[in-house]
Parts: sequence; C-alpha cells; structure tokens
Amino acid sequence: MLPLRAWGLLMLTFLLCDAESTCTTDSNPLTLDPPEIVGAYGETVTVNCSTDELYHDGMYWRDGIRINDEETSVLLHLTLSDWNVKQECRIIVNDSFECGKDLEITIYKTPDIVSVSAEHQGSMVEGTEFPLNCDIINVAPVQKLQVKWYRGNETVHTETFNDTSATPVDVTSSFVVTPERGYNGTLFRCEAELHLGPNGPELIPTVSSSPYTAVVNYKPLIRACPERYTGVEDHFSMSMLDCDADGNPSPTLQWYYQGNLIDAFEILNRTHSGMYTARFVNSIGTSETSVDITIEHAPLFTCNDHYEVQEDDEPQTVCEPMGMPKPTITWFKDGKRIETLQRWTKHDSGQYLLRAINKHGTAVHSLHLDVLYAPVFKQKNNTMTITPGENVTFDCHAVGNPPPVIRWNYTSAENVMETTWGRQRNITVQGATSTNAAVYICVATNKVGSVTRSVKLIMQGEHASAQINPKIWWFIIALIAVLFISTIIFIICMYHKCQNKHGRYNFVPIPGSDIPLITKS
Ligand SMILES: *[C@@H]1O[C@H](CO)[C@@H](O)[C@H](O)[C@H]1NC(C)=O
Ligand SMILES: *[C@@H]1O[C@H](CO)[C@@H](O)[C@H](O)[C@H]1NC(C)=O
Ligand SMILES: *[C@@H]1O[C@H](CO)[C@@H](O)[C@H](O)[C@H]1NC(C)=O
Ligand SMILES: *[C@@H]1O[C@H](CO)[C@@H](O)[C@H](O)[C@H]1NC(C)=O
Ligand SMILES: *[C@@H]1O[C@H](CO)[C@@H](O)[C@H](O)[C@H]1NC(C)=O
Ligand SMILES: *[C@@H]1O[C@H](CO)[C@@H](O)[C@H](O)[C@H]1NC(C)=O
Ligand SMILES: *[C@@H]1O[C@H](CO)[C@@H](O)[C@H](O)[C@H]1NC(C)=O
Ligand SMILES: *[C@@H]1O[C@H](CO)[C@@H](O)[C@H](O)[C@H]1NC(C)=O
Ligand SMILES: *[C@@H]1O[C@H](CO)[C@@H](O)[C@H](O)[C@H]1NC(C)=O
Ligand SMILES: *[C@@H]1O[C@H](CO)[C@@H](O)[C@H](O)[C@H]1NC(C)=O
Repeated sequence: MLPLRAWGLLMLTFLLCDAESTCTTDSNPLTLDPPEIVGAYGETVTVNCSTDELYHDGMYWRDGIRINDEETSVLLHLTLSDWNVKQECRIIVNDSFECGKDLEITIYKTPDIVSVSAEHQGSMVEGTEFPLNCDIINVAPVQKLQVKWYRGNETVHTETFNDTSATPVDVTSSFVVTPERGYNGTLFRCEAELHLGPNGPELIPTVSSSPYTAVVNYKPLIRACPERYTGVEDHFSMSMLDCDADGNPSPTLQWYYQGNLIDAFEILNRTHSGMYTARFVNSIGTSETSVDITIEHAPLFTCNDHYEVQEDDEPQTVCEPMGMPKPTITWFKDGKRIETLQRWTKHDSGQYLLRAINKHGTAVHSLHLDVLYAPVFKQKNNTMTITPGENVTFDCHAVGNPPPVIRWNYTSAENVMETTWGRQRNITVQGATSTNAAVYICVATNKVGSVTRSVKLIMQGEHASAQINPKIWWFIIALIAVLFISTIIFIICMYHKCQNKHGRYNFVPIPGSDIPLITKS
C-alpha cells in the first residue's frame, strides 16, 4: 500500500505533465506584442509580454528582471545589435513549473553596395552569350534577399538564395544576356530587395545598382536601299543614292559594278546602267543588296545615212535611236509628217527626216531609204501563133529594185536572135520554121528574188508531117519524080519493042494531056 503522500506526488507529476503540454500548445498563457520582431540592424524595439494567468509566481524575459506575481505584463527593450540574438519570455506558473515563449527576431541590413559588372571585358556581340554579375555586399539575412535583374524597365531575371546565415554576407547574382541588336544602349541593372514578410517594414527595403550600359556590336542590317533607281546622265553618282544600313560599329558602304569596286562619287553616263551591289561592312559582318540603276539620257542617232529594206519589211528595222526613256520617233518625207508607218511598199524609197524626242531632249537624223523588191514582169505568160517564114519579135521586160537582170532560156537556133534595149530583152525569130515552135522562158533576177515568165510559139496548121525536115521533104519529092519518069521511059521502051515485032508504030503525042509532075500528098 502506498502512503497518501506518495499518491499526492504521483498526482502532482501527472498535473505537471499536463501543465507542460498546455504551455507548448495554443493554450500558452503568454502573449507577445508584437509577436515577431523584424528590425533593421541597430534599431531598438520594445516587446510586451503579457499573460492572462491570474496566478503565477513571476514573469521575466531571458536575461531580464523578474517581476512578481501581481503584474501580468513585462516589457523588453531590445537593441538589435547582435545578429544571433535570441529572446524568450517565461512565466513561473507553479513553484515547480515554468513555461516560456520564444520571440521571433529578424534583423536585416540593406547592402552597402549593389553593382553590375561584365564578366568579360569589351562589348557584347549580337547572338553571343554575355554574362553579367551583380555583386551585393554586406546584406542580411540572405535568405530574404531577392535579386531582380532589369533590362530597361523590364524584369528579366530574379534570383533568391538558400543560405541560412543570419549574419551579413556578400553574394553575387549572375545573369547571362543573349544580346540582340536592339539591346545597344539599353541599361541593365540589378536590385537587391529584402522580402521580410508581413511583419516587416511597409516598404520593401531595396537597393538598386547603377546601370550598366550595353554596347552591342552587330553586323550591318540594310535599313533603306531602293531596289531600282533612275538617274540622269552626268547628274548622278552612286553616292547620291539613299542607301543606309544599321550596324555597330558603323558600317562602311562599298559599291560594286560588274564585280569591281567602284568610286561611288564617279558621275555616271549612259554606259553605266545595270545592277550595282551595295556592300556594307563592319568588324562583325557584311550585308549586301542589289540596286538596278538606269541612267536616262537624251536621244541620239547612231544610224546610217542610207538604208536598204525590202518590201513588206517592218519599219522598226530601220534606224533605232538610242535614248532613255525610249524616245518617240516621227518620220518626215518631203517635209510632211508620216502619221502611221505600215509595212514598206515599193513607192516608199526616198529621203526621210527622223525626229526622236524624250523628256531629256530631241535629236534629228536624215537618211535615204531604198525599198528593194523582187522583179515583176510587165507582161503575162502568153502563147503566140506564127506562120512559117514569118518574122516574129517578143520581149521580156521586168521592173524591180535593184533593176533585174533579164535572161531568156530557150533552144538556140540560127534564125533566133536576142536584142537588148534598155532593160528590155527581145527575141526575134526570122523566117520562122517549125523548129522555132517551142517554149521561151524569160528569167528576171535581182538580189531580192527571181521570177520566170513563158512565151509559147505555135506554128499555124501544124501537123505530123510538118515535123519532118524540109530537106527530107524535097528529097522525097525528087525520089517520086525520078521513079515516075523512070516508069514512063520504061513504058515507052516496051511500046517500041512491040512495034518492032508486029509492024510499024507511029508515036504521036496526044495533045492537051499534061502529065503532072507532083504526086498528091
Ligand atoms: C502590456 O499588455 C497588457 C495586456 O494587454 C496591458 O494591460 C499593458 O498595459 C501592456 N503594457 C504596456 C506598457 O503597454
Ligand atoms: C498550481 O498549483 C495550484 C495548487 O498549488 C493548482 O491549483 C494549480 O492548478 C496549479 N497551476 C497549474 C497551472 O498547474
Ligand atoms: C517601359 O518603358 C517604356 C517607355 O520607356 C514604356 O512604354 C513601357 O510601358 C514600360 N514597361 C514597363 C513594363 O514598365
Ligand atoms: C534552394 O532551395 C530550393 C527549394 O528549397 C531548391 O529547389 C533549390 O535548388 C535550392 N537552390 C540552391 C542553390 O541550393
Ligand atoms: C549603341 O549604343 C551606344 C551607347 O548608347 C551609342 O553611343 C551608339 O551610338 C549606339 N550605336 C548604334 C549603332 O545605335
Ligand atoms: C562614260 O564614262 C566613261 C568613263 O567612266 C567614259 O569612258 C565613256 O566614254 C563615257 N561614255 C559616254 C557615252 O559618255
Ligand atoms: C524578115 O526580116 C528580114 C530581115 O530584116 C527581111 O529581109 C524579110 O523580108 C522579113 N520577112 C518578112 C516576111 O517580113
Ligand atoms: C522589142 O519588142 C517590142 C515589142 O515586142 C518592140 O516594141 C521593141 O521595139 C523591140 N525592141 C527592139 C530593140 O527590138
Ligand atoms: C533553161 O530551162 C530548162 C528547162 O526548163 C532548164 O532545165 C535549164 O536549167 C534552164 N537553164 C537555165 C540556165 O536557167
Ligand atoms: C508563167 O510561166 C512560168 C514559167 O513557165 C511559170 O513558172 C509561171 O507559173 C507561169 N505563170 C502563170 C501565171 O501561169
């Protein structure tokens, strides 16, 4: 059996345990006002520790004076000069039981220096990573520090730190810039902000670095350059062209024509039209563009004084004047303006005056035009009927430019002659015979062409026998005559022989009986 005293001790122990538990939970009898201290280093703060416990054996702040049981609050005046300071308010509830409450203290210090610097010397280069550092010197507490990076007024990066140290430290925040050409002249800066929570100062303590001015080097970018340009002869040089590129360092402009570097100040003339290349160069790179240059000038004739064209040719083939823009040409013949030039005709040969006009001036030129054309016969093909022994003349006459050469093509004979009379060429047949009945072809030729024409001679009453040579004809007649005479002589001889046998015969010719000499054909 336990004595009563022992039971009491056991009960007390139980109660003590109970009391301990009430102290560490919500039902802690102590209230701190303010419950948490956030203060700048060196600042002095006051904290009121009070209790709603009516009976207690004293209250005190750690290292502070103890108050008696009649008072329900105790004040703490604390100067925040110890980075690692800890404070606790305690209450002695019963003789053998104490209860305490920690004061949360945050001591902060804004940095002495915030500065941005480049990790490497020199300028940024477009597209090449460029690290920047922000050095924050002497700041506490670092875990509440937020470093913000700004490009211009825009936040580009934020960094926080996990270090748990309460004492001031130096930290560095890094930011890698990938420069764009637009960043040239932009200000980069960093800001150190202490985010101390709702119990901290109303304004977040912030220190900003002085700005770092970015100088970005970048290759030339052509800003303005016309694709084509029209200049006037003797008044234009490439240096007058408004062609510009943006680049850092400032690019130099070089002009190339037909692959060769040219002097941009050279005054251009008509021979210089064409494609030009503008090349902008700086230490980072090169940019090129092409410009189509047209140099305008007044009309100029470089034509001949004499032109040969062919009938039906287009007029445009004659004498094209130079000029830019293309001049309008007017033709004059015998002082009269020719309204519309169609195809050339054989009557268009002659002296002309040409006038060419464009907005830069006028030029005139006189020329002689010779319209060439193929020979044309004066007569058609024809057929002529002739009688034997007749004299016949037929001619061939053709016109053309240049004048054609006339030639007859036929089977020559003794009685056929050619005579030339001016541009006319006659054929004369004297004492026509059937041999002369043939086709006579006249050929007229000049450098434009060659034409032919035929004349057919037909012998009147022509039949098969007429084809026989007259000499043979006479031979046959003679042969028949000889045969006939021979027959007569033979008959006479036979008659005489009979008379000699049977008596005397008198040979008396029968008057009026003419024996014909020609047989019927
Ligand atoms: C401390 O707090 C108690 C209870 O809220 C209050 O009665 C007392 O006046 C306070 N003391 C000071 C100095 O404010
Ligand atoms: C303190 O002791 C008294 C009796 O001595 C008791 O009534 C009281 O509850 C105790 N208080 C606490 C908080 O334990
Ligand atoms: C930054 O500044 C420019 C003018 O300097 C302004 O137009 C722009 O709205 C600002 N942007 C921000 C986010 O403040
Ligand atoms: C800091 O802490 C966060 C989370 O607590 C973690 O994700 C991050 O990696 C830590 N950073 C460093 C540098 O330790
Ligand atoms: C680049 O920025 C610097 C500094 O602001 C300035 O002097 C320079 O003219 C700028 N260059 C160009 C090409 O904009
Ligand atoms: C054009 O200029 C070049 C020199 O650049 C010169 O040799 C040429 O004769 C000129 N031509 C004309 C038509 O003026
Ligand atoms: C044919 O011409 C010749 C020579 O000129 C002439 O002697 C002859 O009488 C002419 N014949 C006829 C039938 O006219
Ligand atoms: C050629 O013939 C034509 C007619 O056929 C005639 O008028 C002309 O006189 C002749 N010329 C010559 C040289 O015989
Ligand atoms: C003349 O005409 C004949 C037949 O038509 C032809 O074969 C011959 O080549 C021609 N001769 C010339 C020189 O034209
Ligand atoms: C005239 O004769 C020539 C030569 O025989 C021939 O080529 C041509 O076609 C003829 N012309 C006509 C209209 O019959």
